[in-house]
Amino acid sequence: MTLHIAVLMGGWSAERQVSLSSGNGVADALESLGHRVTRIDMGRDVAAKLSEAKPDLVFNALHGTPGEDGSVQGLMDLMGLRYTHSGLATSVIAIDKVLTKQVLVPAGIPMPGGRIVKSADVHDADPLPRPYVLKPVNEGSSVGVAIVTDAGNYGNPIARDATGPWQEFDELLAEPYVRGRELTTAVLGDRALGVTELRPKSGWYDYDAKYTDGMTDHIFPAEIPDEITQACMALALQAHRVLGCRGTSRSDFRWDDERGVDGLFLLEVNTQPGMTPLSLVPEQARHTGMSYPALVQAIVDQAIGS
Ligand SMILES: Nc1ncnc2c1ncn2[C@@H]1O[C@H](COP(=O)(O)OP(=O)(O)O)[C@@H](O)[C@H]1O
Ligand SMILES: [Mg+2]
Repeated sequence: MTLHIAVLMGGWSAERQVSLSSGNGVADALESLGHRVTRIDMGRDVAAKLSEAKPDLVFNALHGTPGEDGSVQGLMDLMGLRYTHSGLATSVIAIDKVLTKQVLVPAGIPMPGGRIVKSADVHDADPLPRPYVLKPVNEGSSVGVAIVTDAGNYGNPIARDATGPWQEFDELLAEPYVRGRELTTAVLGDRALGVTELRPKSGWYDYDAKYTDGMTDHIFPAEIPDEITQACMALALQAHRVLGCRGTSRSDFRWDDERGVDGLFLLEVNTQPGMTPLSLVPEQARHTGMSYPALVQAIVDQAIGS
């Protein structure tokens, strides 16, 4: 069926550029499939733009706030528009790394313990034993993530003038640092696609390692014991279901490879995962035999219930 699809992209989050790549990739694929496409770089006039376009469906290619946090979902609900990916309530929970723990940990999904700290207080004393991680509650793409090492990379305690997220955010989530490996699993509909290991060539999986071509090796299938692969896939699918995700989601994990399955921790669930042709979800889909346009069409099908 040929549809008129509005692709929402851009916006004003820290992930604007990634979203523009996701959105244009999706729009090109939709056009190649024969759909009529209206590309919308989201501004404050998004409601007017959508009213004018009158699409059959909105493909949400936004990342971060407000495209991933429920705001845009609520607007589209009010406007009576159908859209891809998760709905309002799921988005509100999943964007917030604390709310996500509150929902998923009681469901039996292992996540690092954590607590909210006032940024000003991290200069007086460490909130957790080192090494630990400080990160904003609702950013993405590793924006604002600081790994505080035993060696005192930011000072000891963290220096007031050290460059870090404490300068930008009033509150931060402190989590114990999970040593070991970086794994991710995409879910599409009722199926986990596989496990990719991300191996940054230097340092850790920060913004540059995520988006600079060649800085991180993507190993698929991850070279890990079958037990860990199965656990990632089962946990990602369970998280997707417990949160009520729709279409596609991607769960990020850390695995302490010295601790077997007890060392596996879910970090977060991305309800609007990257959709650039080189992103992780399209990459896993490709490995399972699904081309990028086929993936985009599958997400459309999930949204319109066909
Ligand atoms: N508790 C943790 N232990 C080890 N590394 C972490 C931890 N939390 C975050 N990281 C690192 O920071 C990256 C980004 O964190 P994540 O929670 O996935 O947030 P986002 O991707 O939304 O910025 C992770 O992929 C990982 O490399
Ligand atoms: Mg992540």
